[in-house]
Amino acid sequence: MKRILVSGALGQIGSELTVLLRQLYGRDNVLATDIRDDVNREVIESGPFELLDCRDGKGLSELIGIHRIDTIYHLAALLSATAEQKPQMGWDININGLYTVLEVARENRCAVFIPSSIGSFGPTTIKDHTPQDSPQRPSSMYGVTKVAGELLCDYYYHKFGVDTRGVRYPGLISNKTPPGGGTTDYAVDIYYGAVEKGHYTCFLKGDTYLDMMYMPDALKAAVDIMEADPASLRHRNAFNVTSMSFCPEDQAAYIRKHIPNFEISYDIDPVRQALANSWPNSLEDYAARVEWGWAPDFGLEMMTEDMLGTLEKRKGG
Ligand code: NAD
Ligand code: SER
Repeated sequence: MKRILVSGALGQIGSELTVLLRQLYGRDNVLATDIRDDVNREVIESGPFELLDCRDGKGLSELIGIHRIDTIYHLAALLSATAEQKPQMGWDININGLYTVLEVARENRCAVFIPSSIGSFGPTTIKDHTPQDSPQRPSSMYGVTKVAGELLCDYYYHKFGVDTRGVRYPGLISNKTPPGGGTTDYAVDIYYGAVEKGHYTCFLKGDTYLDMMYMPDALKAAVDIMEADPASLRHRNAFNVTSMSFCPEDQAAYIRKHIPNFEISYDIDPVRQALANSWPNSLEDYAARVEWGWAPDFGLEMMTEDMLGTLEKRKGG
């Protein structure tokens, strides 16, 4: 049975992944950590929790010893819009945090899951069906940290044999914990706007295509890649994974199938629009499908039905 530490466990992914990991591997075998403890009581109370800054190698090492950890899900990071506002902090948390985690993993022989992103691509990347192995020249601090992170993970595997594995997530959509300062946040907020007000003001242009994924598929990817037979992994890190590509107008049209009077208007945020313009419209994920059997369950129609159903139920009761 794996003994897991999750960093950034109270964020959008961690708050759901930690609960799933506890179901799969046992409550006491999954230690949640975060730099804060003022949100997500469910994660804090459903198993062990410790305050931890991922840049604190000594604290991380101690927790790994105490809890006999063999696998780290390293989710602590600043997302694209926040890292663009605070680039020095973005570098510090995303790179120095990852370096610390990899060093501690090397010393303690832990496996590491690390999510990269569509943000690791840049304006010179092929925009449609972006292949697994493509040019990556991102123009944002977030992208710079994601490409450097991918390379660092490859390096620790080849040089030191650390079992690093990871995926490039698209924008993630969920109904539990709000996203934390990303460019793709609109695709979550739009459902809340639809259910609460019948209206949403979008900060990206209506025809901006991006890759997206529903959280249950993102969680499945995180679990499956860490359970995959290492012999079948040729890439190991930074696998493209995708399940759908759409723009705000497409999403609004699907919402109108359930809420016919739903209206969308636009108030463009130039920073996030520039980030979105520099990212692919859609990814190609053949390597993940072949090397560890990746296959998503949700498309735009099913996700919209599920999101709206869940939010309506919550509003009603
Ligand atoms: P999030 O912002 O929702 O959560 C990040 C968590 O990290 C927060 O709970 C925060 O308190 C914590 N944190 C911040 N600084 C910390 C530090 N120094 N030490 C410890 N914890 C710290 O982010 P998320 O959406 O859950 O993303 C997790 C990972 O997945 C990130 O690497 C992100 O780049 C990647 N990713 C996310 C998406 C997405 O759409 N959510 C898409 C692609 C990749
Ligand atoms: N959803 C993330 C962001 O917008 C992509 O990595 O920052």
